[in-house]
Order: sequence, then structure tokens, then C-alpha cells
Amino acid sequence: MTNEVLSIIKKRSSARAYSTEEITKEELNTILEAGLMAPTGMNRKEIRFSVVKGDNPVLTELDEEKRRLRGQDVQPHNFYFEAPVLIFISAEDDFKWNRVDAGIAVQNMALAAESLGLGSLIIGCVYDALNGEKKAYFSDKLQIPEGYSFQIALAVGHKTDNKTPHDFDFSEQVTIV
Ligand SMILES: Cc1cc2nc3c(=O)[nH]c(=O)nc-3n(C[C@H](O)[C@H](O)[C@H](O)COP(=O)(O)O)c2cc1C
Repeated sequence: MTNEVLSIIKKRSSARAYSTEEITKEELNTILEAGLMAPTGMNRKEIRFSVVKGDNPVLTELDEEKRRLRGQDVQPHNFYFEAPVLIFISAEDDFKWNRVDAGIAVQNMALAAESLGLGSLIIGCVYDALNGEKKAYFSDKLQIPEGYSFQIALAVGHKTDNKTPHDFDFSEQVTIV
């Protein structure tokens, strides 16, 4: 079976190379609306979206902090592969479904980006850097509210790579009970 939604799900793949072309305000808003339309447990809407342009200096600081924590040397690319825009999703700490809700929202946005012909990358590797000893500093810079923590991010832009979607083993991962 196929239809528009299924074909977008099947086409999406992580993009790790982007051109310098910006995405339009309309494209960005469409992607954010897809995140806002995502369901949340008990309709709590406890997730927040911080939009940051790829040239914001806080991203270099974050990249350095991530590398410091991981003991990594300078990498050929920063953690977001020089994408023109990032969306950081944070969620209320005291809510059981915070990570699940953030995950649903990020995938909604990744699929929306794909449907607009844009590439995206879900990013979790800065989790420890954003929630570690410099949490207050980065939360201030990214305007993550008090009582909220970073969960997951999405980089978006015009992709310049053309990766095939990942494969899977249906019988390994699915059990019909
Ligand atoms: C929760 C989560 C965190 C991820 N964090 C990163 C990341 O920090 N850096 C990265 O390059 N890819 C990251 N990815 C992308 C995965 O590596 C990618 O989705 C996986 O390899 C499957 O490839 P595909 O997205 O092309 O299907 C993350 C994906 C998920 C779902």
C-alpha cells in the first residue's frame, strides 16, 4: 500500500550535508506547526521549541562543550553539519511523557521537512552538554524555560547528500502475538 504520508515516511533519511541556502520563513513555520500539531500525553503541550540559526555563536560553544565532555578532538563537521537552522525541543521536567512527546514532535517535523523537499537530522548528541554543569548557561541562551530540559533537536536545511533510507528486518523487530 502507498499514499502521500507513507511515501514521505519511506523517503525520509538523516541528512548530514547541507548547502548554505536558508530555508524560508514559511517553510520554518510549516515545520514548527507540524511539531505543534503533534499529540502530547493528556494534551499537556509541555514541549517548547527554540529556533536557532546555524550561525548563532552559542552553537559553537555547544559543539565545544559536547567535544569536551566526550574527549573528542576537533571534528570535520559540527554536530549539526552546518545546517542553516536548528530547532531545539525542551520539555517540562515533571511530566512522565516528556521524552516521548518530544520524540513524536521531532519526527512530525522531520516528516514535514521531507514533504517540503528539505533535509533534516534528528540530534541527541548534545543532550549531556545541554543538561550538564552548563545547563543554566545554555538554557538561558536557548531560552529554555525554568523547569524544562532539552530533549532532542532537529537540524533542517537544503540537503546536498542523497542517502538511501535505512533498511530493517521485519521478522527480527516485529512479533505478532
Ligand atoms: C533519538 C535520536 C537521536 C539522534 N541523534 C543523532 C545525533 O546526535 N547525530 C547524528 O548524526 N544523528 C543522530 N540521529 C540520527 C540517527 O543516527 C539516524 O536516525 C539513524 O542512523 C537511522 O538513519 P536514518 O535517519 O537515515 O533513517 C539520532 C536519531 C534519533 C532517533
